[in-house]
Amino acid sequence: MSELAVRPSLIEVHDVEKVYDDGMIRALDGMDLTVASGEFVAITGPSGCGKSTLLHLLAALDRPTAGTIRVDGYDLNHLRRNNLFRREEIGLVFQLHNLLPRLSVLGNVQIAMAGSRRPHTERSAYARRLIGDVDLGDLADRRPPQLSGGERQRVAIARALANDPPILLADEPTGSLDSTSVEAVLGLFQRLRDERGMTIVLVTHDNVVAGVADRVVRMLDGKIAVDSVADFHDP
Ligand SMILES: Nc1ncnc2c1ncn2[C@@H]1O[C@H](COP(=O)(O)OP(=O)(O)OP(=O)(O)O)[C@@H](O)[C@H]1O
Ligand SMILES: [Mg+2]
Repeated sequence: MSELAVRPSLIEVHDVEKVYDDGMIRALDGMDLTVASGEFVAITGPSGCGKSTLLHLLAALDRPTAGTIRVDGYDLNHLRRNNLFRREEIGLVFQLHNLLPRLSVLGNVQIAMAGSRRPHTERSAYARRLIGDVDLGDLADRRPPQLSGGERQRVAIARALANDPPILLADEPTGSLDSTSVEAVLGLFQRLRDERGMTIVLVTHDNVVAGVADRVVRMLDGKIAVDSVADFHDP
């Protein structure tokens, strides 16, 4: 059996619709997507085609109007403990990273461990390790307003990793960064895939960013228009 054939699907989106305003807006309209464990997928497409809506549904921040989504075995239509699912399964990174301005870098990462299984005594050391992983070891005691945009984005990524989720969902994480910071963030994503086997779904408008992914999925009108590895999962 080939390696690809035994890689399990971690994310399965089947015939998903998401409508708003009593059906006037069809944000997702028959979306199908399967993502294997360890894949790095870039989602592209014009403004309004449903990219952020898809990520919100994958993170169980919202539910589909129709269709099914399975993430690491969870049926998101019948999820009982949304918070637990999000904490254990998903690391979320948005363009506007919502760091807490009064907390240090260390505090911002550590607070994401609230309620997790990690013992309190280990949280500070683990947060420091993650901050080192994103090359911000020297800035652990600074507060977000004292950081550059790229540094803040890397704090947001460290925070998203705080509970070792198997999946990282990122919505235009490089949108406001200069090219040096973009390279640093992309290098980090590639390391996360290679060293931790993370599954990454990243929304971007930027072809350079999409170019580092294993697979590029282009959406149009709420569904997939082009999939660079459409037959990836066929035996
Ligand atoms: N809460 C909402 N209520 C009503 N319409 C919404 C809501 N959220 C999104 N939409 C609409 O759904 C469609 C898809 O939106 P979405 O945010 O997923 O697009 P996108 O692909 O992420 O676009 P962009 O590249 O601009 O971020 C758009 O027409 C948007 O206006
Ligand atoms: Mg969007």
